Amino acid sequence: MTDPIPGFSKLTKEEKIEWLSNTYLANNPEAKNILQQYWNPNANLQQLHEEFTENTLSNYYLPFGLAPNFLINNELYAIPMATEESSVIAAASKAAKFWGKRGGFKAEVLGTQKIGQVHFMYQGDKSKLPDFFLHVKPRLLETVAPLTKNMEKRGGGVINLELRDKTTLLGDYFQLHCTFETKDSMGANFINSCLERFAETFKAEAAVYENFSASEKDIEIVMSILSNYVPDCIVRAEVSCDVKELADHEMSGEDFAAKFVRALKIAEAEPYRAVTHNKGIMNGIDAVVLSTGNDFRAVEAGIHAYASKDGKYTSLSHADVRNGKFRFWMEIPLALGTVGGLTGLHPLSRIALEILQKPSAPDLMKIVAAAGLAQNFAAVRSLITTGIQQGHMKMHLMNILNQLNATPQEKEVLVKHFKVHNVSHSAVEEQLEKLRS
Ligand code: MEV
Repeated sequence: MTDPIPGFSKLTKEEKIEWLSNTYLANNPEAKNILQQYWNPNANLQQLHEEFTENTLSNYYLPFGLAPNFLINNELYAIPMATEESSVIAAASKAAKFWGKRGGFKAEVLGTQKIGQVHFMYQGDKSKLPDFFLHVKPRLLETVAPLTKNMEKRGGGVINLELRDKTTLLGDYFQLHCTFETKDSMGANFINSCLERFAETFKAEAAVYENFSASEKDIEIVMSILSNYVPDCIVRAEVSCDVKELADHEMSGEDFAAKFVRALKIAEAEPYRAVTHNKGIMNGIDAVVLSTGNDFRAVEAGIHAYASKDGKYTSLSHADVRNGKFRFWMEIPLALGTVGGLTGLHPLSRIALEILQKPSAPDLMKIVAAAGLAQNFAAVRSLITTGIQQGHMKMHLMNILNQLNATPQEKEVLVKHFKVHNVSHSAVEEQLEKLRS
């Protein structure tokens, strides 16, 4: 057991690493070097990264790659993806190529509204609250005017403000349920600032409201926070083609379509499969969300909640065949920004948005949804034809070779060898041993 360290955050980066090396990494003489090796030689860039968060010791790299040839609403995009998972970018590119020849992705934003709530407790006469709310509502909107001024110029702001009685869920629990439009910003700071201002004013006005008794005047504000559940900030992405155009791996188009739809029905019916199916979608979504400096935790939380909006966790995507036409689509909630937050601050996010031709937030929603659907198509296509391991292990080969410390020459020989042989950890090990002997 080590003793707690007081004032760790006050230490310099070097002192923090020194303490860490002595305390938790004493048996690893390389640890300090490894941490330092990831410092950027450009001091300004390093400082920028250190200031993104606290107690920074080093930088944690992820590959930043590109999936080109994405035809979305008749525009060709190259999509930047940050991911560590082998085969994700290859799969996205392959699916993009496949659908590029069949009309591409059609994507449409169905809504852009976001929600925030002031959660409060009120123990008085319930019938007095709606009147108080009507009385205080203009004042609430007035107090956020300085915060909403700029957002309103961009066409956003507070869209709606409601009082909600939640006492059937929890005794004395009420909400101010607020709807926001935040245009090209994800809007978390804007929403939270508005909510905190609402809460302050709401409490202060209650304290002097003449129809409240002394105890009723004492409303308890529990918290004010945006919701990452955004079922009205929705994008739909779809691909479609004649069934005949789906012939694949010695399967007729009809058989492929039928098996694909069946695989989707399984994901709709069975939560164990749905989670993995949706994880495949998130492989594409997270990679673009991350590359563009957006909040992938918010996106993950919101999307998975949406996947269980009808009371049971289910597939986010769906497929059908009608009149000889195959359709594959999904609708997902996505709260994204293309201004503010990390988007303009992280040099690679800036580049990612430039690669995407500086999209608006709704445009980015369409691109991200297309990437998710492409990823899902690629995964299910593999699953119902060759199986996932063939493609995955091919892409994973380099990781195995690196684990086994293969030299560049050895890698070259073995990559060639495994172009025509099945990859498995033991097969690679065996071939490498053979080569070395
Ligand atoms: C692996 O990262 C993702 C898949 O499991 C998705 C799926 O099963 O649909 C291949």
